[in-house]
Amino acid sequence: MANKNLTVALLGFGVVGSGTAQVITENQDRICRATGRGIDIRYILDLREFPDSPFADRIVHDYNVIINDPEVDVVVEMMGGSHPAYEFSRAALEAGKSVVTSNKEVVANFGTELLALAAEKGVRYLFEASVGGGIPVLRPLAQDMAANRVRSINGILNGTTNYILTRMFADGASFDAALAEAQQKGYAERDPSADVDGLDAARKIVILAAMATGLRVDPNAISVEGIRKITAADVAIATKMDCAIKLIGHMSYADDKLAVWVAPCFVPRQNPIFNIDDVFNGVLIDTDMLGQTLFYGRGAGKLPTAGAVVSDLVDIASHPFDAKTAPTWTDAEAADLLPAGAEKLPVCLIYEGAPDATSAVGAERVVTTDTHTALLLPAMTADELDAHIQAKPARPVACYRVLPQ
Ligand code: HSE
Repeated sequence: MANKNLTVALLGFGVVGSGTAQVITENQDRICRATGRGIDIRYILDLREFPDSPFADRIVHDYNVIINDPEVDVVVEMMGGSHPAYEFSRAALEAGKSVVTSNKEVVANFGTELLALAAEKGVRYLFEASVGGGIPVLRPLAQDMAANRVRSINGILNGTTNYILTRMFADGASFDAALAEAQQKGYAERDPSADVDGLDAARKIVILAAMATGLRVDPNAISVEGIRKITAADVAIATKMDCAIKLIGHMSYADDKLAVWVAPCFVPRQNPIFNIDDVFNGVLIDTDMLGQTLFYGRGAGKLPTAGAVVSDLVDIASHPFDAKTAPTWTDAEAADLLPAGAEKLPVCLIYEGAPDATSAVGAERVVTTDTHTALLLPAMTADELDAHIQAKPARPVACYRVLPQ
């Protein structure tokens, strides 16, 4: 007898929700081939009606209809925001239903608790689409790289900011013009500050770090710097240094100490993520056995993200809950974390004006433009950098961490 189809309810029929319905419908044959069963969309929860949609008859407005239907195997949460997405996810798990989500805010903030609840109830909590949009990265990290220790991750994790930075470098576009273009193309979050101020990337690197180490850090407690302050002068200096500026989500893990931060960084041309432009994302993972591996693809957009959501449904359709392999996270404590600023990183300091012989002492490289001077300093801690700056007469106008080649 053929396996019973997986019965799902979609929460939210916006960009990702409607894309998920489209992927399930258009590629049902592929899903059946991979899992031996199909996926039935029984309900779609949304505040709106969609009278012209082929799914009009599945639209419901009361979540209890879904929770109280024992036939629903999986709730697919694509509402965005923490509330009521978190409460709805909890209720679904409590009711013994697996949950799939694209919602990085909920996973980064409540992942420890929701994974524990899923394990207690014997169901799955999966969130491949929450990081890297359509790029398969969380499942490969958890499964294919399970025999590796992750030493570091450097990721371009936000498509909107990568698009903005690409336009600023390629066309000399202003930050505001490039942001407006990204919003018009539908890449930006509802509130673009989550993109441009780095919080979206922070949530994603927190999820990656937790997948890699089992330790979840609070995304609101890590050091996060966005891209608003990047100037045309910084772009000119970076270009002259043969570097790009990318918003990087970074984690490193050594001697049982975890460091996680988000900041715009100089990325040298030789680094594999230098060429990752436009809305694309790239996640460079360094492990003890494999060395470096790069995950690259569309980090935002309707069908790429929906494809990742459906990949979780395919996983659930093929693999029932297994207590032995269910992932668990622990909320990191102070003892698990490298003290802020203790990581040694190369730094680029940018000064207004002409080179100054005193300030340049200790620099590995000095680069000048018509208006600015930049010093490339060797890897140092935040305290060492502070001491270096204080010892010089001039004050830098910008400071960037520099990724390795
Ligand atoms: N606003 C996000 C981005 C969407 O630009 O990457 C995908 O998470």
